[in-house]
Amino acid sequence: MSDSSNRARLVHHEVSPTRRVSGVIDDAREGLLQPPRVLPPKYFYDDHGSQLFEAICDTPEYYPTRTEDALLAEASAAIIERVAPDHLIELGSGSSKKTRHLIAACDAAGVTPRYWPFEVSSQIMLDAADTLMRDYPWLNVDAMSGDYTGGLANLPLAEDGGRRLFLFLGGTLGNFEPDAAAAMLDEIGALMNPGDALLLGLDRVKDRHTLEAAYDDAAGHTAAFNRNVINVLNRELGGNMPEAAYRHRAVFNEDAERIEMWLIAEHDHEIYFQALDAGFSMQAGEGIMTEISRKFTERAIDELLARTDLAIMSHFEAPEQAYSLILATRA
Ligand code: SAH
Ligand code: AVI
Repeated sequence: MSDSSNRARLVHHEVSPTRRVSGVIDDAREGLLQPPRVLPPKYFYDDHGSQLFEAICDTPEYYPTRTEDALLAEASAAIIERVAPDHLIELGSGSSKKTRHLIAACDAAGVTPRYWPFEVSSQIMLDAADTLMRDYPWLNVDAMSGDYTGGLANLPLAEDGGRRLFLFLGGTLGNFEPDAAAAMLDEIGALMNPGDALLLGLDRVKDRHTLEAAYDDAAGHTAAFNRNVINVLNRELGGNMPEAAYRHRAVFNEDAERIEMWLIAEHDHEIYFQALDAGFSMQAGEGIMTEISRKFTERAIDELLARTDLAIMSHFEAPEQAYSLILATRA
């Protein structure tokens, strides 16, 4: 619940894209009407999907959140001492729960940055901003609603010469194909001045059982999160996709070093979307790929960064190399 002192410390910006960004009509027309059927992951995150993601983070199987949380608890003081940020700018901030470690480290060090979360899912961002401002009376928040695949050059960041610490946590860069991931890192790099840094969370390759369980929890939250995309498509496109006709599947593709999430049709059926004035047939066993989640070896991390204008300053590694936090700067 926001109070008036919070409201005075919050600015809410709508960020316009710097290039044409595909919407649900284009993505469904291009990605669904013919095989291979594939959707971008941003459609998971309506209000309900954002809540389901939070539920996933609390499952015993989904180790990335608690592993990154523990790593941030350990490393935040050193990161803040090193960067001493005037601005914390976070892409895909969600509930900002893990960001609290960095803000607490700022608090302890007497560093008082502005916080700039950037989200496609506005409600979860605004709720998180409220809670953070309540807990940290010095904190001012510039909440930015928009789609980061539309580019970062229009972010309304302060041009005050202050040091910027960019955050891209949760392993979310792993939801990008390799070229798009390198391009995104360069877009972040283009906003960095000397002394600025990026803190990047990346999940690591590990055994298939652990990986697949993390994306198919016993409580069924990941399955519900995946199938929620069907509701989003039906709502946005006037569709008749039968949710009950799909089962969730998560598989580790070892060659591509990525988890793939699929919706698999259980029986043959026809789908029609009014907004497309088009439809398609799904056969039993046919799938729609709804997400990739790349898992990195140390070598793959080095190769990714080597393709960009960024250089690694520090690498914080979780026990058993389960997860990595990379602190990088512009080369
Ligand atoms: N950083 C948080 C949340 C990760 S989930 C954590 O580590 O727990 C990924 C987040 O990115 C979601 O909150 C989702 O709404 C947001 N997101 C996904 N696609 C996006 C896009 N294209 N533009 C902006 N935000 C996006
Ligand atoms: C946001 N992103 C890093 C999550 C992941 O692990 O790829 C999304 C997710 N999908 C299923 N579970 C979690």
